Amino acid sequence: MKKKLLGAVLSVAMVATLLAGCGGQAAAPAEAPAAPAAEAPAEEAAPAEEAAPAEEAAPAAEANGNKVGVAMPTKDLQRWNQDGSNMESELKAAGYEVDLQYASNDVQTQVSQIENMINNGCSVLVIASIEGDSLGTVLATAKEKNIPVIAYDRLIMNTDAVSYYATFDNYMVGTKQGEYIRDQLKLDSEAGPFNLEVTTGDPGDNNARYFYQGAIDVLQPYLDEGKLVIKSGQLDFDQVATASWSSENAQSRAENIVSSNYADGTNIDAWLCSNDSTAQGVVAALDANYNGEWPIITGQDCDIVSVQNMIAGKQSMSIFKDTRTLASQVVKMVGQILSGETVDVNDTTTYDNGTGVIPSYLCEPVFADINNYKELLIDSGYYTEDQLK
Ligand code: GAL
Repeated sequence: MKKKLLGAVLSVAMVATLLAGCGGQAAAPAEAPAAPAAEAPAEEAAPAEEAAPAEEAAPAAEANGNKVGVAMPTKDLQRWNQDGSNMESELKAAGYEVDLQYASNDVQTQVSQIENMINNGCSVLVIASIEGDSLGTVLATAKEKNIPVIAYDRLIMNTDAVSYYATFDNYMVGTKQGEYIRDQLKLDSEAGPFNLEVTTGDPGDNNARYFYQGAIDVLQPYLDEGKLVIKSGQLDFDQVATASWSSENAQSRAENIVSSNYADGTNIDAWLCSNDSTAQGVVAALDANYNGEWPIITGQDCDIVSVQNMIAGKQSMSIFKDTRTLASQVVKMVGQILSGETVDVNDTTTYDNGTGVIPSYLCEPVFADINNYKELLIDSGYYTEDQLK
């Protein structure tokens, strides 16, 4: 009874302090198998934005009941470093023990890391998968051991072991990118035609399809009427996908497109890039090989390099997905799961992972450009001014 009561106090306290992160929500019945109730720390968790530094956190949690496994895909892309460290500090501040691992974008490494988390007694797994379809076998073991799984930012596919999904509204990210191109080119009033090229993300990342579709759904009418033209002829998802979201892969493909279609100085009017690492690759390719007028270039994540490129006029916009917000949301869900409480979700229809719709919590992505990056990123403490110089 004491554990339950403490768990309830913890989750109520965490709900109270973390609600600002993601706005209102609909509750859903706890789908996850009730994990062993955890010995919650006596004091309330610090509010997310003032999360107490680890040394002031509640006494170290017991080895097993409060141990959370956090599996991140790579350190090579900036955002995952922030995701991992935000979650680790917030989970520790809430009294949990944390096993944080990065897999260098290697699927087998990630599988092994998750196996170790399961064998080392983690009570909840928080996983940003490298390949959404690659974790079925290892997560079947988690399910057998009644370990709930939260898919973090990227939906884990074709396994019934996923209890919840916490992310940003991925389709909305694409919609904002498509609308930006539409509005900047004035497609509803200008005659055109305008030249567009497209670069999206890793085909193994379920998010990439949502980003791509959200933008194409906005731009398709203008492609159909010929106001938008893709000189490379590459528009299908598989043609414009970028393995590992790598800047080098995006750059190499963009160089080929420019040399084959724009070497005569023909203008590229817009380049739809699904995130910042691919946008950085396109910028590098254009810098080296393109002589026309600089195009509109979209992005996502507000990586430091891309914000610098926005300030320099090389990238037109990005999408701010505050990893502190997502980390806070996940910490709240972990607390609710381990306390056997109803887990807050706000989407129970969109994300079918192949075994059924996964109850999800979508945080809102925010448009960012040179006009609002200071307020969004510096005033909020996400970056310092010096980091962006
Ligand atoms: C996606 C993520 C994006 C993007 C990409 C590369 O899954 O939602 O923010 O950055 O991975 O990390």
